Amino acid sequence: MVKKKTCIFISGQGSNLKNLINRSRDSNFPLKICLVISNNRDAKGINYAKKFGIPYIFINTKIKNDENKILFYLKKYQISFICLAGYMKIISKKLIKDYQKKIINIHPSLLPKFKGLNTFTRILKSREIKAGCTVHFVNEKLDSGSRITQKIFFINKNDNEEILKRKTQKLEHKAYPEAIIKIFRKS
Ligand code: GRF
Repeated sequence: MVKKKTCIFISGQGSNLKNLINRSRDSNFPLKICLVISNNRDAKGINYAKKFGIPYIFINTKIKNDENKILFYLKKYQISFICLAGYMKIISKKLIKDYQKKIINIHPSLLPKFKGLNTFTRILKSREIKAGCTVHFVNEKLDSGSRITQKIFFINKNDNEEILKRKTQKLEHKAYPEAIIKIFRKS
């Protein structure tokens, strides 16, 4: 199997990054993680890149020219697929255009419900019965690209934000690799 050269974009903890690195070590998994981009110099997730010897780059998205820098490194590492994993920054139009249907994201809600930030607060406030996560393609509109996989759980009446987050992340670690396998099984 020829694996897709993949870049993972992160900003924080990196539990999805860690999970995808582990899965990608399986010879049947469609991705090879060749690069990690973080827009947060202190992102804990960078440690997983270090541990597994994966090149990583810090991009300061607060300054001009950040987009060119990202495109430069994607080209340098011949990246053909991108996974956003807790990347707290809107992807530029140019990048989306260059990587049509080749950028995916994981979001901690059952999209189209609860797009954007502070998901768990809003889920609890609106007294939802179910929560979960969604893996979707990235397009110009926030959290709105076509959905690939969704995983659901029922909310218990004692669940607080922290518990919801824990339950959601547990499902995310199943959903993200499953979505990737689904995409490449089709093509
Ligand atoms: C995940 O909950 C994901 O849904 C959201 O950001 C979080 C990232 O977590 N987009 P981690 O950094 O992968 O642990």
